[in-house]
Amino acid sequence: MLGLGGAGAGLIRGLLRRAGQFRDDADHRVEGRGVVANLFFEDSTRTRLSFSVAARRLGLDVVDLTSAGSSMSKGESILDTARTVAAMGVAVLVVRSKQAGVPKMIADAVECPIINAGDGRHEHPTQGLLDIYTLAEAHGRLDGFDLSGLHVAIVGDVVNSRVARSDVAGMTALGARVTCVGPPELVPVSMETLGCGVADDLDGLIESVDAVVMLRVQRERGAEIGSIETYHRRYAMTVDRLGRMKPGAIVMHPGPMNRGVEIDHDVAESGRSVVLRQVTNGVRVRMAVLERCLDE
Ligand code: CP
Repeated sequence: MLGLGGAGAGLIRGLLRRAGQFRDDADHRVEGRGVVANLFFEDSTRTRLSFSVAARRLGLDVVDLTSAGSSMSKGESILDTARTVAAMGVAVLVVRSKQAGVPKMIADAVECPIINAGDGRHEHPTQGLLDIYTLAEAHGRLDGFDLSGLHVAIVGDVVNSRVARSDVAGMTALGARVTCVGPPELVPVSMETLGCGVADDLDGLIESVDAVVMLRVQRERGAEIGSIETYHRRYAMTVDRLGRMKPGAIVMHPGPMNRGVEIDHDVAESGRSVVLRQVTNGVRVRMAVLERCLDE
């Protein structure tokens, strides 16, 4: 699985339904089906551990390779590294990279299935799936995953966000309306080509949305916001904005959070925040994706 763009509503709903079954069947095993190799060429807390937990819950073995401590320090390329691990006979490669397109490049070069665990600004499909699952769960849509009538605001550094691209693709495929919100340098009008709306006034729509997905400002990808105070005043999820949201509306964040920048501590800890629910749902979503890859 390389992305949700073009994946189609049928495949997305099938994976989400299977993830829902894992909620009630957490002991399901597919052991004897091999080894999952995590190849993480960029740092991660949630995604790497979540794939490991998901694989172990399925009874699979897991091996981990990160750039630090590998022979990449001796000049070995990402592609040679991936082909070397694949040649050990692993069942699935889970790949994270700083550069967009690396999982696809590896998929074109090896026989085993590849799962994109986030590539540059391109896609983070399992994050998209767990976000959709969490949205559906909060709004009583687990039976069918029909998101029509729901309006989601994705707020902040959209231009640098692979999560935003996967969320927009997956959520709109299932019927949700999505608006990306932020200053023009982080949310250019060209983002509309993804199939979402674009806005620069969070206060203008905070009272009408069913969920907000708050995004971290990715300085490591060159994002500049000028003054944190100004950014916070215009685009942060504050207690005041939380109080203006509809009853039942939720606050999401893929993590890692920068408290006090895009989300206030009291919001992150509030009953409307589903940040840890997203993490919990991530394991069952990744179980569903791993199982499907093993069935390919
Ligand atoms: N949401 C997410 O991808 O977090 P990590 O970078 O910690 O994996």
